[in-house]
Amino acid sequence: MTEFTEVADLEEVPPGERKRVEVNSELITLFNIDGELFAIYDRCPHKKTTPLVRGTLNGLGVKCPNHGFRFDLKTGECDRGAEWNTRIYQVKIDNGKILLGPALNKTSSS
Ligand code: FES
Repeated sequence: MTEFTEVADLEEVPPGERKRVEVNSELITLFNIDGELFAIYDRCPHKKTTPLVRGTLNGLGVKCPNHGFRFDLKTGECDRGAEWNTRIYQVKIDNGKILLGPALNKTSSS
């Protein structure tokens, strides 16, 4: 993903809500935490199948519903070690639409 892509209406993801979207065959979950939007690659890098959209919010992080690894929504860092870090994406709001841009970080899988 090199350009910004419209993925949802802002009203679909109000504060406290989340939504999974697909961009170029990548599943990405949006979280709205107190009005600030974050976007993270949806598949937990631990087993590569567990959807983080079903995770538990923990501050500005999400804990995987499977084994509880926590991923920071601002950095993509995993609390169990850098080998589990994951991708996060640029988010923009334009005219009531949510747009996703390129990943903000590099991981060993990207
Ligand atoms: S599958 Fe996510 S922590 Fe194990």
